[in-house]
Parts: sequence; C-alpha cells; structure tokens
Amino acid sequence: MKISVLGATGSMGGLIIKTALQEGLEISGKVSSKNSISELFDDTDTIIDFSCPLATQSMLEYALQSESIVPVIIGTTGLSDECIDLMKACSRNTPVFYSPNMSFLISIVNMAVYAIGKLLDDTFDVEVSETHHRLKKDAPSGTALMLGNSVAKSRGVHLSDVAVFDRHGIVQQRKQGDIGFCVRRCGKVVGEHEVSFVSDNEEITVSHKAFSKEIFAKSVIKTVRWLVAQSPALYTMNDFTKDMIVPVVKDLYKDFFSLNRNRL
Ligand SMILES: NC(=O)c1ccc[n+]([C@@H]2O[C@H](COP(=O)([O-])OP(=O)(O)OC[C@H]3O[C@@H](n4cnc5c(N)ncnc54)[C@H](OP(=O)(O)O)[C@@H]3O)[C@@H](O)[C@H]2O)c1
Repeated sequence: MKISVLGATGSMGGLIIKTALQEGLEISGKVSSKNSISELFDDTDTIIDFSCPLATQSMLEYALQSESIVPVIIGTTGLSDECIDLMKACSRNTPVFYSPNMSFLISIVNMAVYAIGKLLDDTFDVEVSETHHRLKKDAPSGTALMLGNSVAKSRGVHLSDVAVFDRHGIVQQRKQGDIGFCVRRCGKVVGEHEVSFVSDNEEITVSHKAFSKEIFAKSVIKTVRWLVAQSPALYTMNDFTKDMIVPVVKDLYKDFFSLNRNRL
C-alpha cells in the first residue's frame, strides 16, 4: 500500500513516514511548502495530511476540483469552517477521515466527558485545560475544542454559544453553563488535556497526557488500513473506535450494575 504525506518535513510527517516504512507501507509522495500539492495525488492509495490549515485547504480544493477518489486522512488542527465544508464536499467522492487527536485513549476521554456531561447538569462548571510545546501554533488545541464540543453536545447546546476563550478585560461573574478554556504553551510538552466538572462541593477531572508523538503516528497507520476499505463519507475517530468501544461499554454497563446488586 502506498501513502503520500502532506507536511512530510514536519515533526508528525517525519514520524508518520518512519512508522509507515516500519509497517511495510510505501511512500509515494512527500510534500511540504516547497512542493506542488498535485504531487500528493500521483499513484497513491491514501493521502495523509499533518501540515497547516492553509496547506490542508489547498489540498482539499485540489481534491475537489480534480474529483479525486484517493482517501484522505487529516490530522492538521486549527482548521476553518470553510475547510470543514471542503472536507464534507470531498467526502462525497472518497472516504475522508478527520481527527484533531489520533490517540485511542483520547477517544475514551472524549466518550467519558460526553457521558459525564449527560449525568451532570450545568450547575457543574466545566473548564477545559490544555498544555502543549512552545512550537504549537493554534490555540486552544483541536483536542480541547473537540472535548468542549462533546460537553456542549451532551448538554444540548452549541459550543460557540457557551465557550469562553478569554477572560482578560471581562469584568463579570462566570455564567452558568459557560465552558471555559485554559491554554499553556511551554517547553516540549507533547500534549496534556483536562476536563473538570466542578460544583460547590465536588469535582471530577478527566485527564490525558501524551508522552510521545509516536502514538499518533502508529494510530495513523492503523487508520490508513481501515479507511481504504470504507465507502465515501466523512469519518472521525468515533467511527474508527466504535467497533472496539461499543461492545465493551455494553458489557460494562450490564456487569457493573449486576455486580453492585450481587454485593448487597
Ligand atoms: N491529529 C493529531 O493527532 C495531531 C498530533 C500532532 C500534531 N497534529 C497537528 O498536525 C499539524 C502538524 O504538526 P507538526 O508538529 O508536525 O508541525 P511542523 O513540525 O511545524 O510541520 C508542519 C509541516 O507542514 C508543512 N507546511 C507548512 N506550510 C505549508 C504549505 N503552505 N504547504 C505545504 N506544506 C506546508 C511544513 O513544511 P516546511 O518544512 O516546508 O515548512 C512541515 O512539513 C499541526 O496542525 C498539529 O496541530 C495533530
């Protein structure tokens, strides 16, 4: 199987190429700011994009205009609504996978915060915190936005109506239902995320720390093998992990409640 990589000279692109070769894949194209986007589409089975929003947009525009049927995996973060619309348009011709975080553990965290959001009402203040290395350009991270979006969805509201990204200069109390974001950029931190639900008397915090970017690269390669077998549509990590997570959660639900009853 052949892959071409957009962002090939970057830290993620380099790791993806290394991991792909270790896993027996061929590299059909390596594109960075010095190449033409069209090179990605030559004789390849999948395009993998870990670059920057501008490059992602150019790649999607090219795919749409050339009616490409090459499957695409997008990990680039900080994308505009226009880019998301382009993804949707391309996904009519070919499978398109988008995830701001390729970690399987983050998909568990994402499901957990959705479940907690369903169980707790909006008297619990929600704050999403993230820390990344000093080179990261977008803020808050795509993962922080995804987690905030899951809480908002669990509460039946739009994130854009309740998100608070900046409190500087705002002289008023926190509003009930606000979802606050806190961002740190320092050192070489790969990625840390925390979602806290806080009431007057209690707090739940779900957190995740990535120690190495290799987890993202390994997951990308697994996703390539899965995506090439899918029909044209827009996919997320939930689609990829659903078959692994759903049976476990169903059993957990059944076992957990019978376990408690048996203990009585
Ligand atoms: N989804 C996930 O799990 C995940 C995990 C980690 C990172 N990310 C995201 O992946 C992206 C890349 O991260 P990174 O750490 O690898 O960044 P990076 O080291 O800065 O690499 C960026 C890459 O994009 C290329 N690029 C920049 N502008 C371009 C343009 N106009 N046209 C074509 N290529 C261009 C760069 O090429 P030059 O060398 O020519 O400038 C470089 O190869 C970021 O958005 C990051 O947030 C996602």
